[in-house]
Amino acid sequence: MSKQNQAGANPPSRNKTILSGIQPSGRLHLGNYFGAIRQHLEFQEKGDAFYFIANYHSLTSVQDGGQLRQYTFDVALDYLALGMDPQKCTFFAQSDVPQVLELAWILGTLTPVSMMEKGVSYKDKVAQGLQPNIGLFTYPVLQAADILIYHSDVVPVGADQKQNIEISRDLAARFNRIFDGEYLRIPEPYIVESVATVPGIDGRKMSKSYDNTIDIFDSGKALKKKVMAVVTDSTPLEEPKDPDSCNVYALIRLFASEEKNREIREKYKAGGFGYGHAKKELLTLIEDYFSEARSRREKLVRDPDTVRDMLREGGRKARERAETVMEPVRSATGIVRHFSTQ
Ligand code: ADP
Ligand code: TRP
Repeated sequence: MSKQNQAGANPPSRNKTILSGIQPSGRLHLGNYFGAIRQHLEFQEKGDAFYFIANYHSLTSVQDGGQLRQYTFDVALDYLALGMDPQKCTFFAQSDVPQVLELAWILGTLTPVSMMEKGVSYKDKVAQGLQPNIGLFTYPVLQAADILIYHSDVVPVGADQKQNIEISRDLAARFNRIFDGEYLRIPEPYIVESVATVPGIDGRKMSKSYDNTIDIFDSGKALKKKVMAVVTDSTPLEEPKDPDSCNVYALIRLFASEEKNREIREKYKAGGFGYGHAKKELLTLIEDYFSEARSRREKLVRDPDTVRDMLREGGRKARERAETVMEPVRSATGIVRHFSTQ
């Protein structure tokens, strides 16, 4: 396992701390699954993995308490149903580690405004209509605190997060330089490049902000309706078609085995295989692929206390690690607390 990916990071190894987070700002969709979640599940086997639900980050887009609570719980359910195993990794909610907010403030005092002004994702989000508030502007500082508070070595993320990891590296190095010590570990990104952008039903990037998603746990009529709505061109049924320019095939290839992929590509090229047929194939593939996860989820929904207990235990483990990093940081910066949490 010494192969490097294009970002130059080594894949995680056993003794490394792996960390990643996902925002609970909507229902999880196929883009999230293939672009992030699948790798998170894989990496829990490959090191000391920390995965968290970034609920403070979600306040930059969800400003409804009931909704944020629900999305947070749903992300926990979804991850557990999909195979996140709290015996193998530390799985928790960001809000269960208050040290993250403490570190975020301290890092903010070292962050030049100009660094945030260059934030690509800030500009994108404002262009999409999010409020340009201070939380959104300094989102990468909170993300840096998320990463640095556990001495993370490797951060597996989609390519869209690369700049935020660079910012985390920069802030860790700045802190260490200013306070003259190895207080914060410099993390490496591990950019997941094996998956091309997953298209949504309108052919643009699948994203909750475009309202074009197929959600991982969509089922029955709702799933069918979305699959049938995937945009295609108007090549008649009997004519040959190009799988590589087809949105339906771009989704099929994510789910199908190599053999099935070959078979479907041939059908496209031969003609006599319409987009309706392709959509039926896609529907069956999605249903089969998530069928075990779907039944695990149904069981967990009926047992919310177990989900909360898992998060509570994950939070406890995460706080313990966070405190070991935070304590020397307080001391170096001269932040004195006149109380003890013991
Ligand atoms: P959304 O665009 O729906 O708001 P997020 O930005 O919350 O999704 O995405 C969370 C993670 O899922 C991102 O880090 C990104 O890498 C991955 N992701 C989201 N949409 C896609 C997509 N269409 N294709 C591939 N990966 C995606
Ligand atoms: N910004 C990430 C996203 O939108 C979520 C996130 C928050 C994160 N904090 C993180 C990812 C720390 C990796 C590490 O997908």
